[in-house]
Amino acid sequence: MQEIGREFDRAGINARVREGLPFTHRWHNRFHLEMPFGLINDPNGLVYYNGEYHIFYQWNPLGCEHKNKCWAHTHTRDFVTYSVPELAMHPGDVHDKDGCYSGCGTVENGQLRVLYTCNAKDEQGVRTPAQRFGVLRSDGTIQKQEIVIPNSPAGITGHFRDPYLFRRHGRRYMVLGAQAEQLSDGTPGERGTVLIYREADDGSWQNMGELATRLGDFGYMWECPGIMHFGDYDVLAFCPQGLPAREYDRQNLYESGYIAGKMSLDSMDMLAHGKFQEFDHGFDFYAPQVFQHEGRHIMLGWMGMPDRDADYPTAEQGWMYCLTLPRVLTLRQGHIYAQPARELRALRLQETAFSIDADDTCSLEADLYEGSEVIMDITLGEAQHLTLELAYGLERLKFIYDRTAQTMTIDRTDLQLGGKGVRKFRLYADEHLSLQLFVDRTAVEAFFQHGDEVASLYVFPQKNIVPELRLYSDAPMENVTGEAWELADFRYV
Ligand code: FRU
Repeated sequence: MQEIGREFDRAGINARVREGLPFTHRWHNRFHLEMPFGLINDPNGLVYYNGEYHIFYQWNPLGCEHKNKCWAHTHTRDFVTYSVPELAMHPGDVHDKDGCYSGCGTVENGQLRVLYTCNAKDEQGVRTPAQRFGVLRSDGTIQKQEIVIPNSPAGITGHFRDPYLFRRHGRRYMVLGAQAEQLSDGTPGERGTVLIYREADDGSWQNMGELATRLGDFGYMWECPGIMHFGDYDVLAFCPQGLPAREYDRQNLYESGYIAGKMSLDSMDMLAHGKFQEFDHGFDFYAPQVFQHEGRHIMLGWMGMPDRDADYPTAEQGWMYCLTLPRVLTLRQGHIYAQPARELRALRLQETAFSIDADDTCSLEADLYEGSEVIMDITLGEAQHLTLELAYGLERLKFIYDRTAQTMTIDRTDLQLGGKGVRKFRLYADEHLSLQLFVDRTAVEAFFQHGDEVASLYVFPQKNIVPELRLYSDAPMENVTGEAWELADFRYV
């Protein structure tokens, strides 16, 4: 078999990562996973194994373009101290010469195994996607193993990828992202969907077909699916591409969300599911995956957006993108709440409490730290419009709450560098508005109403300035309490 991949000098690449840590550039995030060089995207292979959370992710160590996709690997006990990331697998043969694409992890017979999509294109650009297992060796590399699905099945284009394993009734299944060749009325066209395969007793994988939903024609491709189980309900997570933007949602180029209902593998149907909802309303969130461990669903997302690389000026410095903080998901009344994992409290260093000045109940200002967590509870009182700003000198990131319309708007138009624009979504606050913000060097994650909604986004301030927090309203607020914590950096050992 033709061997490629000599350009992936693993020892040299790993040494460069080690030399690049700890980060010094002012745009490098300190408590988000990112790399000193290259482009990273989707979290992959998330699995708890031997007392640690193992995190793999897509990585091009050779440049800031979406090519040469490898898997990087780090592990952590506590989401605060991480092993120095290493190159775990790279394109190496005819099957995955054009990328070791996304996939999942599992523990089998005491070993950490991964399942990923081998991406190969011919001269005409036609893809042959193959789904292949691998196993993590003690030297930190993945040994590639058997291909279990050699190509996309009939009726599905070459866009067939991102396998995710799950168990039901003692059997193993996988769900895959796919593009069907026909629309739901049977006419030719590209339609996003997911396929399910079941593992047979002899270890082969049988195509059970599409998992039907009520969504009909819902974009031209679904990427990175996942199946979760909460009490009596199932959640199908996926990333649809090609949905037009609406007034209060679907405002990114590609979306990432879920439907909740009851999955029947007998009728291959997602029964009684609700509407498609987004996991995150920020500008920079895509392709999440979850750890399922001890009853917790811990999600990591990619902070980035495919086909929008021009929005991210760190490319000039030789690196791109980070992963989100771990967030714990719960399903309540058909809606997923996401809260920062409790382990992150260990990052807290010093605290400043703030409360509103009795003489000036329409505004509040507070200095932040180089890395901050802000917790704020606002009793709105007479206020109808409220603006929270992160002020980097004259550059401002704004969160604007309109109580009458019950909308939150995130406004990046004042920033000079990187992606701009606004995102607007419904947020229900009656008397109380609660916010929790994680403000890293460029990555900002905002949790609203105790995780009812979340937004992840970047700001690339021109100056090396610690932001100031400003809150102001059109009429007096009744009460504001909260605190700002200085956060420690992630540690790499
Ligand atoms: C999503 C995605 C996946 C694919 C991977 C390649 O961002 O396009 O569908 O497996 O990225 O890097």
